[in-house]
Amino acid sequence: MDKSKRKVVIAGNWKMNMTPSEAKAAVAETAALTDSMTGCDVVLCVPFVDIAAAVEAAKGTNVKIGAQNVHFEAKGAFTGEISASMLLECGVEYVIIGHSERRQYFGETDETVNLRTKAALAAGLKVILCLGEIKEERLAGITDEVVAMQTKLDLAGISADDMKNVIIAYEPVWAIGTGLTATPDQADETCGVIRATLAKLYGADLADATVIQYGGSMNDGNAAELLSKVNVDGGLIGGASLVPAKFAKIVEAAQA
Ligand code: PGA
Repeated sequence: MDKSKRKVVIAGNWKMNMTPSEAKAAVAETAALTDSMTGCDVVLCVPFVDIAAAVEAAKGTNVKIGAQNVHFEAKGAFTGEISASMLLECGVEYVIIGHSERRQYFGETDETVNLRTKAALAAGLKVILCLGEIKEERLAGITDEVVAMQTKLDLAGISADDMKNVIIAYEPVWAIGTGLTATPDQADETCGVIRATLAKLYGADLADATVIQYGGSMNDGNAAELLSKVNVDGGLIGGASLVPAKFAKIVEAAQA
């Protein structure tokens, strides 16, 4: 398999961290540290209220700004939700959809993840679609089935053309925020299962061209080995993305 067909994407997921003023400083610092590192795409997915400050601070740099969710309706009576057109007008390029914290704590299902993904793509956003097994599923030996099923359900009805704007983030739920990381071989193997599922759905060429990130306690110490794996095309980084110097080390590890 030829990994060179894919551009590595290193994305930070700030989750519910950083006020707008903190965001402004952190984006500027991240941009300053990573601007010469053009061997991968760099994205920071920030809280909604930080978007304006983050977009402003990222202007003229290599850092792209993402949001952490999007609603599937264009507008209407959906208190607390944000639409794709709102994000676009604010200068957002990427959006995370289906993060396990949304699935676990906010009742999101493969069905709503699929609806959100379709709406985001139709509006012109790039999607970072998260999926992954929980600990019990890994222990039961059904990881491959779980990720294959999520891939199929989350992408149902999404065209091959739209897949150009989809990144998949494989995030084993047991590794998120726990300090436990999948071994590089586990990450490679499960990203490979997702790629094989994409090949069944869309053909081998599209599967070869799709960026599949690993996420789950990736940090400046383990990134290089994870990223060296043939099926791992980048990372979705939570905790370590909050410290620009640590995040920049991960971006550096992706320059190979
Ligand atoms: P973590 O989070 O790096 O803090 O484990 C990753 C994620 O949730 O995307």
